[in-house]
Amino acid sequence: MTALRPHAEQLFAEELAALASVDDRPRPPGWRLSPQAVVTYLLGDDAKITPKYVGPRRLMEVAVATLATDRALLLLGVPGTAKTWVSEHLAAAISGDSTLLVQGTAGTPEEAIRYGWNYARLLAEGPSTAALVPSPVMRAMETGTIARVEELTRVPSDVQDTLITILSEKTLPVPELASEVQATKGFNIIATANDRDRGVNELSSALRRRFNTIVLPVPASADEEVDIVARRVAQLGRSLELPEVPPALEEIRRVVTVFRELRSGLTEDGRTKVKSPTGTLSTAEAISVVTNGWALAAHFGDGVLRPGDVAAGIVGAVIKDPSSDPVVWREYLETVVRERDGWTAFYRAARDA
Ligand SMILES: Nc1ncnc2c1ncn2[C@@H]1O[C@H](COP(=O)(O)OP(=O)(O)OP(=O)(O)O)[C@@H](O)[C@H]1O
Ligand SMILES: [Mg+2]
Repeated sequence: MTALRPHAEQLFAEELAALASVDDRPRPPGWRLSPQAVVTYLLGDDAKITPKYVGPRRLMEVAVATLATDRALLLLGVPGTAKTWVSEHLAAAISGDSTLLVQGTAGTPEEAIRYGWNYARLLAEGPSTAALVPSPVMRAMETGTIARVEELTRVPSDVQDTLITILSEKTLPVPELASEVQATKGFNIIATANDRDRGVNELSSALRRRFNTIVLPVPASADEEVDIVARRVAQLGRSLELPEVPPALEEIRRVVTVFRELRSGLTEDGRTKVKSPTGTLSTAEAISVVTNGWALAAHFGDGVLRPGDVAAGIVGAVIKDPSSDPVVWREYLETVVRERDGWTAFYRAARDA
């Protein structure tokens, strides 16, 4: 079977093995790599290791150093700033396993963080170790690995608070069995939370004190964002086995320019104010617009990414609210795109889309 989306530790197994084989720095207990090697894995080097995260090195150093202490790590940021992506790669590099994952939602029950029961066994045999169903967090405690909690602030506060004992005492009591699971060295938690959801379920201050928070920024410049999109699109295209299309930096730059201008409310040259639409227009969305364009060009076009291949995707990403966004978009098209050198084909395609 070929997995549609292999886990980071599968996809980058060779890089992780190469790093481990030359890594002679001290490794925290239970870690597969030294903190230094984990950061190299994330940011890449000049040789074999490909960059996964593009952004400030210092942030990744602080994140990795945090995980080597008794504090947990909270990655915070607006949508599409690679919070999930970074947490997956951190878990893969540190523990060799990124699969111990709790997806936080408004309906996440306590069992998803502590443990549940196999009810058939529970009724037949009463509470026993065999009838207990461990959560990903409990498994991480037992094996001394990293557990990931996605979208922590969407989880109801009383359920969030089950993490307090786990993080401060490093133990998970199982009163039904009059026992507990003590965390093995190497255990820690990486949580992610979205800036936009803040206020839905604030982290209690008791829990917040147990996390070091790192805010992942949006890409600092257009060049950096183009670089991120180009890399990720190439990786995605390869893993989806899309037919080869020549690298199309011009179209990628166009998508990034439109997204950045609409996001910031100002054109690149700083001369014209534009209105921002309701959607987030994140880097993640730019990646999917270009990937879709690639599939269009490969299967229905002439094998070259053209303005028309990205136009429909851009319009779809910009127009999220059918009542206000079309006005914003049309105004942007007419006042900014129409007059711009080299943008005529895109203007036409976008107008018709
Ligand atoms: N600075 C960056 N470096 C590398 N990849 C990035 C960067 N920013 C965004 N990406 C890419 O954007 C995509 C989306 O990232 P991810 O899903 O991790 O975002 P997120 O912050 O978890 O968003 P959400 O809040 O919507 O969950 C990933 O494919 C990731 O590779
Ligand atoms: Mg995410």
